[in-house]
Amino acid sequence: MNLNMSQSLNAKLPVHTGPGTPGGDLLRRYWQPIMLVDDLPAARDPVPLRILGEDLVLFRDDRGRLGLLGRQCAHRCADLSYGRVENGGLRCVYHGWLFDIEGHCLEQPGEPGKGQHRDRVLQKAYPCQERAGAVWTYMGPGEPPLFPDYPALTAPDAYRFSARWLSNCNWLQASEGNVDPVHTSFLHALEVPAADADPLRKAQAQEVFGSDVAPRLSVQETRFGLRVIAERRQQPEGRRLVRVTNFVMPNACAIGGAETPFGRGGASMFWHVPIDDTSHWRFEFVFHSKAALPRDRLREAYRQEADERGVPWRNASNRFGQRRDMLDRSFVGMGQTFPVHDLFVTESQGEIHDRDNEHLVTSDVAIARSRRQLMQALQDLAEGREPRGVVREPAVNRFHDLLVLTETLAHDSNVDEFLAEMESADIYALRPLAEHPT
Ligand code: FES
Ligand SMILES: [Fe+2]
Repeated sequence: MNLNMSQSLNAKLPVHTGPGTPGGDLLRRYWQPIMLVDDLPAARDPVPLRILGEDLVLFRDDRGRLGLLGRQCAHRCADLSYGRVENGGLRCVYHGWLFDIEGHCLEQPGEPGKGQHRDRVLQKAYPCQERAGAVWTYMGPGEPPLFPDYPALTAPDAYRFSARWLSNCNWLQASEGNVDPVHTSFLHALEVPAADADPLRKAQAQEVFGSDVAPRLSVQETRFGLRVIAERRQQPEGRRLVRVTNFVMPNACAIGGAETPFGRGGASMFWHVPIDDTSHWRFEFVFHSKAALPRDRLREAYRQEADERGVPWRNASNRFGQRRDMLDRSFVGMGQTFPVHDLFVTESQGEIHDRDNEHLVTSDVAIARSRRQLMQALQDLAEGREPRGVVREPAVNRFHDLLVLTETLAHDSNVDEFLAEMESADIYALRPLAEHPT
């Protein structure tokens, strides 16, 4: 890959992800979430999807197996998402060709002998699996890597809340918002709610922006991406509020969320999965290993902002529902749901944010480092090396080093020693839940 300095920054980064692009080749080397299991139609109707610029159809065959096929039939390109699920596959309604989940053509019923040469036809097909309440696919070449056993994805459903949001901008600018700890002190700043307010909301409001809006940032390279450490001074004791979040290659993160009210042992993960270059899905997996998440309430808050397909009602045409009269209640005047703020602000950067117009400063250090890692991964791929974060060895498929923490430390404590201690402690060991809320 040419890293010519005269290239625009966007051209050096995996902004474009369609088939055959370097960025598309990179994202295709990792398992990607494409749908929530709860959002699959109960009647097994095939679902049309667009992922990484490819038109696809997701379906469950009559044995319950998930299949993801190219949407255009291999015969004369009719749309398979209108097809019939039957006889071990998906049947095109134009001339009745039947494809199984691996893309084999099982029948060409209009041909002699149901198609004596049907094995010459292979429909595009990608492997799928259900994990963490979502359907994941691998769209790259060769043997898929191991599914990464991040704590947020391996726990039973009761420990997790999952959601997806449609976002009308390029995936990378949204992903970069996750490695920007300073914006939480502004964009997400809420007035500390009244005494009778929801405890989860109250704790978030106090922790995230309450102490110091100019934290000291440091960034450490990890095998899966970056660890970002933000230290905020707490007056008058001189203690430090330490928040640890992570960039997870190439389009994910592990950040704070439920660990703020429930203590150590939580790690929420997001994936930004391109639909095409100007829209993407933000998948969220909110997880805590020690607490039953208030899933009903989280779902209710989500439903107030997005319809059953994950499409937010706030968009550019209604100015994202900004309430100028509420600017004294929150910094942005768009309610108290953090993802809504993020969706708005990253869309406001433009469909494809032009990075050549930026003026990065010291507090953008993690963004700069994540870009360097992505560029390195593009280079690795171009030179035949596996990019960072692809897991192939079961022995390393355990992520106790993926630390998400919000901790108050004494002013003289050693943060590196503390983090090393947390890595060796099993902070994501599951605590049995007294009740399993739905
Ligand atoms: S186009 Fe699908 S069977 Fe002919
Ligand atoms: Fe944010």
